[in-house]
Amino acid sequence: MNSPVSPCLIALFSVILFSTSSYAITPISNITHESILRCLFHHSVPHNLLYTKSTASYTTLLQSSIQNQRFNTPTTPKPFLIVSPTLESHVQATVNCSRNHGLQIRVRSGGHDYEGLSYVSHDPPFLVLDLHSLSSIRVDTNHGTAWVQAGATIGELYYRIAEKNKTAGFPAGLCPTLGIGGHLSGGGFGTMLRMYGLAADNIIDARLVNANGEILDRESMGEDFFWAVRGGGGASFGVILAYKIELVYVPPKVTVFTKSINLSQGATRVTSKWQRIAYKLDDRLFIRAVMQVVSDEKSSRTIQVGFESLFLGEKEELLALIGKSFPELGLKAEDCQEMSWIESVPYFAGYKNGESPSILLDRKPQFNLSYKAKSDFLTEPITELGWERIWQELLRGEEQATIVVDPYGGRMDEISESETPFPHRKGSLYNIQYLVGLGEGGAKGMKKHLDWIRSFYQFMASYVSKNPRAAYLNYRDLDLGSDRVGSTTYTKARVWGRRYFKSNFERLAMVKGKVDPGNFFRNEQSVPPLFPAYRSL
Ligand SMILES: Cc1cc2nc3c(=O)[nH]c(=O)nc-3n(C[C@H](O)[C@H](O)[C@H](O)COP(=O)(O)OP(=O)(O)OC[C@H]3O[C@@H](n4cnc5c(N)ncnc54)[C@H](O)[C@@H]3O)c2cc1C
Ligand SMILES: *[C@@H]1O[C@H](CO)[C@@H](O)[C@H](O)[C@H]1NC(C)=O
Ligand SMILES: *[C@@H]1O[C@H](CO)[C@@H](O)[C@H](O)[C@H]1NC(C)=O
Ligand SMILES: *[C@@H]1O[C@H](CO)[C@@H](O)[C@H](O)[C@H]1NC(C)=O
Ligand SMILES: *[C@@H]1O[C@H](CO)[C@@H](O)[C@H](O)[C@H]1NC(C)=O
Ligand SMILES: *[C@@H]1O[C@H](CO)[C@@H](O)[C@H](O)[C@H]1NC(C)=O
Repeated sequence: MNSPVSPCLIALFSVILFSTSSYAITPISNITHESILRCLFHHSVPHNLLYTKSTASYTTLLQSSIQNQRFNTPTTPKPFLIVSPTLESHVQATVNCSRNHGLQIRVRSGGHDYEGLSYVSHDPPFLVLDLHSLSSIRVDTNHGTAWVQAGATIGELYYRIAEKNKTAGFPAGLCPTLGIGGHLSGGGFGTMLRMYGLAADNIIDARLVNANGEILDRESMGEDFFWAVRGGGGASFGVILAYKIELVYVPPKVTVFTKSINLSQGATRVTSKWQRIAYKLDDRLFIRAVMQVVSDEKSSRTIQVGFESLFLGEKEELLALIGKSFPELGLKAEDCQEMSWIESVPYFAGYKNGESPSILLDRKPQFNLSYKAKSDFLTEPITELGWERIWQELLRGEEQATIVVDPYGGRMDEISESETPFPHRKGSLYNIQYLVGLGEGGAKGMKKHLDWIRSFYQFMASYVSKNPRAAYLNYRDLDLGSDRVGSTTYTKARVWGRRYFKSNFERLAMVKGKVDPGNFFRNEQSVPPLFPAYRSL
């Protein structure tokens, strides 16, 4: 931390924060659904945008963007009301009425939260503000910018940009159904991060509704607040209505390849070489590695490493680059495909048969899986021996596990740790994501898979970043620590906060203290308010 907090001050924080926040968190023992419905109606939110459990389409709407079936079970806590705003004033009314009724809200844009926090609260009652209808996109090609509403998906954004200008794009994530509201506010990275950084690095303005129900833009919210919603996660600070983003240049032709190599083909040696160079390559070249256990007809199990790559340039130049710095990959011309940037988006989303980019407009969840994920950062490459041990560990289990390793470097190194809340910059060579399928084996089966990924995470400790062992907010993981909603103290939250934000956590908590002192916007892992007056005591 930049300004270390002495242990006695921490004790003081706990007492003060607890007592100041308790006024806002008074539990409402008997919420009359009618009174909040009346309040919303009174503030001009039409009835047909309100879904209670007795509304016929309540379940369809609730499930429409649940991206992890782990949180789609009969025992998953459900909102007593879903509000589906079509106007910004509906969002204001929802914030005003919920606050005045002491009700907790969850905001959902694309529904990809790894722990389901956009539509599940473990401290009911709560309502869900589902922003899917606030999804307009205005691309301004003259200025190379766009305003995109929070409920749009990045697939829709990519499509609308390319429709207007074939040499413009945006550097965000790979999965087209990701929501703007969650993805951009938490960072957001994909195949162009080595060239252009995070999605959040390319935000130039924002509109949001604060805890008072007021609409603010960059100018009226001020630079601290604006800083917080570019990587600190929207959920702790307000309801993001829209972001203004800067478009980036993409060449008319890009080149992609996927080359899979298993252990008997030398995957260990190739992976080890790739690790030593992938974060240092030309900024236009992104090569990620996707590692899985596979088996062939003889059902002999092996590790397969898929190298998936985007090059912002043509095939000839790519082949020359790889031939020079990564000949071990054995890349041939026929492994590579040239296409437009917008065609590369479905390719990286897993549509490898040349699907039309119009598939990016489809908001339906692409997968129907139940899974658990965790993340790490590498500050140094793993040795060949290290990889051998990791393969052994993977092959020992019977799990459906995937490890995705994304190289950083390039543009990411040029941005300081404190420029946005996302601190994983120079020195963070790779992001690693571990995913395990939870299957359908009931609670017992699920526990086995969860135990496995948790012990695998322990196993990885010696290879990854330390003090703190860092994690990516958008790969949310409640194992890092969580608290009962509303009683989170700064001291407790620092345990996970430093892992997501390093020394930016304190500034985030200070911003929170300024813009939402009553802790209206909260969840199991939100940033708690910290107040300067107490800090200087
Ligand atoms: C299949 C899949 C693929 C992914 N691929 C990538 C990837 O390539 N790159 C990457 O960086 N990440 C990736 N992620 C992680 C992703 O960035 C995060 O899950 C992100 O938070 C999703 O945003 P969302 O709007 O879809 O999610 P939601 O579940 O709607 O929201 C996530 C969080 O943000 C809050 N939130 C949502 N909207 C708003 C709003 N308008 N205002 C305030 N708070 C809001 C929610 O309350 C919740 O806390 C992936 C996740 C999945 C499930
Ligand atoms: C809750 O409110 C209803 C009226 O809206 C009332 O009939 C009921 O008794 C209340 N329950 C409790 C526990 O106060
Ligand atoms: C919500 O409250 C704010 C002030 O706190 C006010 O400016 C705004 O008009 C209100 N909006 C609605 C729709 O209730
Ligand atoms: C398209 O976008 C690129 C990169 O943002 C820009 O240089 C170019 O001028 C744009 N073309 C048009 C016709 O707007
Ligand atoms: C691994 O590669 C070898 C050589 O190409 C191949 O024979 C074998 O089937 C592959 N194994 C699996 C499990 O795919
Ligand atoms: C997804 O899977 C769940 C069970 O895991 C099932 O209830 C649901 O109908 C499936 N949805 C779709 C769209 O396939």
